[in-house]
Amino acid sequence: MSQERIESMMDEKRHFAPPADSRGRAHVSGEAAREALVRRAAEDPEGFWGERAAQLIDWFKPWDTVLDADMNEPRIEWFKGGRLNVAHNCLDRHVAGNRRNKAAIIWQGEPEEDVRVLTYQMLYDEVRRFAAVLRKMGVHKGDRVSLYMPMIPELAVAMLACARIGAVHSIVFAGFSAVSLQNRIHDCEAKVVVTADAVLRAGRRIPLKVNVDEAVRQCPSVEKVVVVNRGSLEVTMEEGRDLWWHEVMADRTLDVDRPCEEMDAEDMLFILYTSGSTGKPKGVVHTTGGYLTYAAHTTQWVFDVQDDDVYWCTADIGWITGHSYIVYGPLALGATSLMFEGVPSWPSPDRFWRIVEKFRVNIFYTAPTVVRALMREGTDWTERHDLSSLRVLGSVGEPINPEAWMWYHTHIGKGRLPIVDTWWQTETGGIMISGLPYATTLKPGSATQPLPGVDAAIVRPDGSPAGPNEGGHLVIRKPWPGMLRGIFGSPERYRSTYFERFPGMYESGDGARTDTDGYFWIMGRLDDVINVSGHRMGTAEVESALVAHPSVAEAAVVGMPHAVKGEAIYAYVTLGADAEETEELRAELRAWVRKEIGPIATPDVLQFAEGLPKTRSGKIMRRILRKIAAGATSEFGDTSTLADPGVVSDLIEGRLQLT
Ligand code: PRX
Repeated sequence: MSQERIESMMDEKRHFAPPADSRGRAHVSGEAAREALVRRAAEDPEGFWGERAAQLIDWFKPWDTVLDADMNEPRIEWFKGGRLNVAHNCLDRHVAGNRRNKAAIIWQGEPEEDVRVLTYQMLYDEVRRFAAVLRKMGVHKGDRVSLYMPMIPELAVAMLACARIGAVHSIVFAGFSAVSLQNRIHDCEAKVVVTADAVLRAGRRIPLKVNVDEAVRQCPSVEKVVVVNRGSLEVTMEEGRDLWWHEVMADRTLDVDRPCEEMDAEDMLFILYTSGSTGKPKGVVHTTGGYLTYAAHTTQWVFDVQDDDVYWCTADIGWITGHSYIVYGPLALGATSLMFEGVPSWPSPDRFWRIVEKFRVNIFYTAPTVVRALMREGTDWTERHDLSSLRVLGSVGEPINPEAWMWYHTHIGKGRLPIVDTWWQTETGGIMISGLPYATTLKPGSATQPLPGVDAAIVRPDGSPAGPNEGGHLVIRKPWPGMLRGIFGSPERYRSTYFERFPGMYESGDGARTDTDGYFWIMGRLDDVINVSGHRMGTAEVESALVAHPSVAEAAVVGMPHAVKGEAIYAYVTLGADAEETEELRAELRAWVRKEIGPIATPDVLQFAEGLPKTRSGKIMRRILRKIAAGATSEFGDTSTLADPGVVSDLIEGRLQLT
């Protein structure tokens, strides 16, 4: 994020007191109650988390110890000895209790008329069936299943079916390319892939199954591919490997009555790949007891979910937000979760508000990039819908600038609704820093304070605590139940990425500062990870895709500030001797990245460069490239280590604007 933007956020003086809990049923009501919880959790963390785990989750067998951990090693074990099943907690117990006929998922498809409501009973039946399908295919406890699917109810069914039999799901966002999918399937050695023929998006049908065909060719671990018919697109089905979802689900010989697998609290629940500072995405591992407790706990407190609410998180399930806050958190609580297949802008920019009005949504959780995009469309679109059902608004994925916060508050919240700005990561499993809607005074642009039980701090490069208004590294000093337990297949990378630099602490990779009230202001990533429309992207991933092209000799990719996306992708490319700098090649390289990684990684700007600014030891000086991309060409700081200062003026001359 640009320095100006950070400073304007630091100058932000507006305060918004929490609304009164007039119905008297908020989960955490009033600032004093929140403070008491913070104190209680700090004094007795194990007592606090043990209590929440017992309140929120059904255990087949209670745990022996709440926490057994050492963040230096790292070794993290929550609720050791405890046994449970995630699908049982999300379904079976609600069906056996009094929520059998309650809507678990309200699904709004891309076409307005495509609506499905799955009650807890209906979802439970589907999940038991698909669990039996997987078992019949030979999927056992611990086996991996890759899910590469659109936002359709079958995705939630497949996740819960994996959880039911103890298989580990690895969801790959359907916007990723065949190559990205292949890398992810390959890394976790998935036995089965579940997909669909097509994705419906903005009125178009985008083929999906073809990517699986391409990916699986190089993945010997894959035995079966299950295909949902979403778009009635013609696909090739490979004999013996590919099966239609509707056909396998109709199998009359399925053993649907098998009880769910009793899992250990620390058994793996899922792997989710995310970007880091190298070219290879990391398979973040989450386990059963701690993750579920944390997802349910944060959903309940941060959104104040009540039994009669319609709760809507607009994320895609392909990202962690969808895992924790569309599926696991809400369903563990027995809430009603709305799931939407489409995009905010199609067929018109009031699609979201139409849905809020149609289903009387009470809690609405989205990303700043969406707010900024809709803000540009003007308030005519918000005015034409009745948004009075809304009670709590949320934001996630990137810093929300005060201007977008105020628009969200004024035009969607009608000047009265609290906005919870939730800071967290794929690795944290759930929300870490956020206001509580009925208990926190809000400041636009600040994620406010760590949740009770979360020991977040800002430290200097030497690990000592930073003072108020002093920028530094955002770290977490005590374990929390939702934290990642590993990087699949890479214990050393897990240790060195998160636990090495600041001994005994978890390093988030974000920069932040606290103000004199102890409020946290997130400044963005300190590593080579950028945040494009709330999507996390490693610059090294884009670079390795570019250099894989035969015409490219070298590439450097940085983020640049962007009014709607937060950050855009700026690529500097040096060509090989035989290649020519043409517009055709520029277009070809952008298309190449799109194909290698997926549309979200397409460089917004691609500048051909004769050379890149390097130190005498050959290290690319990204700091300078970031400045040039941002147009801040007069403040380079120390450039005395540059091997060839002439490179910089050439780059400035050739700088391209966003079109
Ligand atoms: O830089 C932070 C930013 O998103 C990163 C995590 O991305 P990912 O793992 O994809 O998870 C996104 C959804 C939780 C963080 O390192 N980030 C996330 N939420 C916020 C944020 N930055 C500022 N404010 C937030 N509320």
